[in-house]
Parts: sequence; C-alpha cells; structure tokens
Amino acid sequence: MSVNPSKIGVLGAGTMGAGIAQVAAQAGFDTLLYDVSQEFIDRGLGRIRTFLEGSRKRGKLSAEQEQQILARLKGTLKLEDFSGVGLVIEAVPEQIELKREIFKKLDAACGIETILATNTSSFSVTVIAAAARRRERVLGLHFFNPPPLMALVEVVQGEQTGAATMETATELVRRMGKTPVAAKDTPGFIVNRIARPFYNEALRILNDGGATVETIDKVMKGAGGFPMGPFELMDLIGIDINFAATQSLFEAFFHDPRFRPSPIQQRMFLAGNLGRKTGRGFYTYGDK
Ligand SMILES: NC(=O)c1ccc[n+]([C@@H]2O[C@H](COP(=O)([O-])OP(=O)(O)OC[C@H]3O[C@@H](n4cnc5c(N)ncnc54)[C@H](O)[C@@H]3O)[C@@H](O)[C@H]2O)c1
Repeated sequence: MSVNPSKIGVLGAGTMGAGIAQVAAQAGFDTLLYDVSQEFIDRGLGRIRTFLEGSRKRGKLSAEQEQQILARLKGTLKLEDFSGVGLVIEAVPEQIELKREIFKKLDAACGIETILATNTSSFSVTVIAAAARRRERVLGLHFFNPPPLMALVEVVQGEQTGAATMETATELVRRMGKTPVAAKDTPGFIVNRIARPFYNEALRILNDGGATVETIDKVMKGAGGFPMGPFELMDLIGIDINFAATQSLFEAFFHDPRFRPSPIQQRMFLAGNLGRKTGRGFYTYGDK
C-alpha cells in the first residue's frame, strides 16, 4: 500500500501527543490524532485550540492561518485510519508493554512503507521496534515538552533502524520546523540521561531536609540560569512520567545508585499528585 508522506498520525492525545499533532498541523501536514476515547481526543484538540487562539490574540497567527491549521487536524478512534500515513508518532503513557502492544497493532494497520516512531523518554527503541516486523522502519523521535515551543527533537537510531529511515525522519523533523539531533539507542538518549541527576539530586536535598522546594527552584533559576527549577519542571512533565523515566533508567543501568528513584516521587505518584495535570504536585495549581 502506498503512503502519503505529507500525512502524519499521532497516537495518544495527551500532553505530548496533542503538542506534536499541533506542530505537525502547523507545519502543513494533514494530521490524524488517535486516542482510546472521544473524550481524550476532544481534550487534546481543545488544548490545541486554546494554544492557537492565544497565538492569534498575541498577533502571531492570523485568523485564516488558525482555521487552516485546525482544518488539517482530525481526531480518530480507528487505527485503520493510519493505513496511508507516511509517519506515525506514538505518544502513549510510558509503559513498555503498552508501547510494544501498540507497535504490533500499528505494524498490522499501517502500509509497509509507513515509518513508525516512538516518543519514549526512557525505553529502548530497539526493544519497542522488536514488536513490529518492519524493524528497519522504526525509530525514536523524542520531542520535548511543550512540543510547540521546544526546538529540539532527538532522532534515535535503534539497532535495526535503517539509514534511509533516519534520513527521511530527520528531514520530516526539519519540515516540522524543529532541530533534529541524531542519537543512538542508549538509556535516556542524550537529554534525559543528563537531566536525571538534575531531578534526583534536587529530590535528595529535599529528602535530607537541606532546603525547600521553593529555595531549590529559586537557586537553580537565579544562580544556575535554568529557565525552570527541577520541581517546577517535574510538575510540568508529570510526576508519573518523570518517575517512570527514572525507574526505567535505573533498571537499564542495572541499579546504578546514580539513577535510584526517590521515595518522595514514588509517594506522590502513588497518591496521584502528578503535578500540573492533576492540579497538585510540588506546587498547587488553579482550582483543580
Ligand atoms: N510529559 C513529558 O514531558 C514528556 C516529554 C518527552 C517525552 N514524553 C513521552 O511521551 C509519551 C507520552 O507522555 P505524555 O506526557 O503525553 O502522557 P499523557 O499521560 O499526558 O498522555 C498519554 C495519552 O495516551 C493515551 N492512551 C493511553 N492508552 C492508549 C492507547 N492504548 N492508545 C492510544 N492512546 C492511549 C491517553 O488516553 C492519553 O491521552 C511517554 O512515552 C513519555 O515518556 C513525555
């Protein structure tokens, strides 16, 4: 089955999926956004609408451009709709079995030329790709949060990812207006591996009673020059997602203590205090 390279499919309409779908539609791609229920799709599309409306009000987008972008975005509950797309980007929760199950389904639903990408933060692209038959056309495309604002995308080559797949995906990332950087399939790739001690040491200081959340964030921003402190960033990313990434790197490095997860983060995860998305994390937000 032939595929349309100017059509992109995104799986999962959450924080990352909705953002990636927006980036693709803004760059002129016809974009399909899939999730498991209409409610999640509507929420994702609603977030995109709010973002675009804000851009229009700030004069960064005309009303006509806004309408054109929205017209290029469609929600779907059927994976079969992905059959003719050139590239699918998976952004479902960070659970390895879920991702592998989805890659198996995508492999069956998509045309053989379709490139399948995972937005995983911490799992091996090679392991996810092994669930599909087309392993040479599976790679990692790791966008950063929030995708419409963050320029960098790690283009991750799994053990069996073909050079042509890397080239095509790199070019598509450029066409989406992003900055691709090539990485090999090592745990955490580049950014998430380097970022782990940033979160973990902040959590250790907190656990030791060394300083408050607010103080640590203030110091890292004021003196360290970071745009956000570690706790603000964990709340933005989602405690569940960040905790899962730390656990996964800890496993991948055979329990190297440098990557040991924090009991504080585990407690927050189990209590459902997941940061901005639940209204409560290290800080409290809005009226949620
Ligand atoms: N949050 C971040 O800062 C960040 C940054 C980079 C990469 N990532 C990665 O992106 C991925 C998604 O993270 P997120 O923060 O967007 O999660 P999220 O929880 O905000 O969204 C996940 C979405 O996937 C949907 N979903 C669940 N099961 C599904 C299925 N079987 N099929 C289709 N959709 C399904 C959920 O309904 C939800 O809408 C993860 O792999 C994560 O590690 C996250």
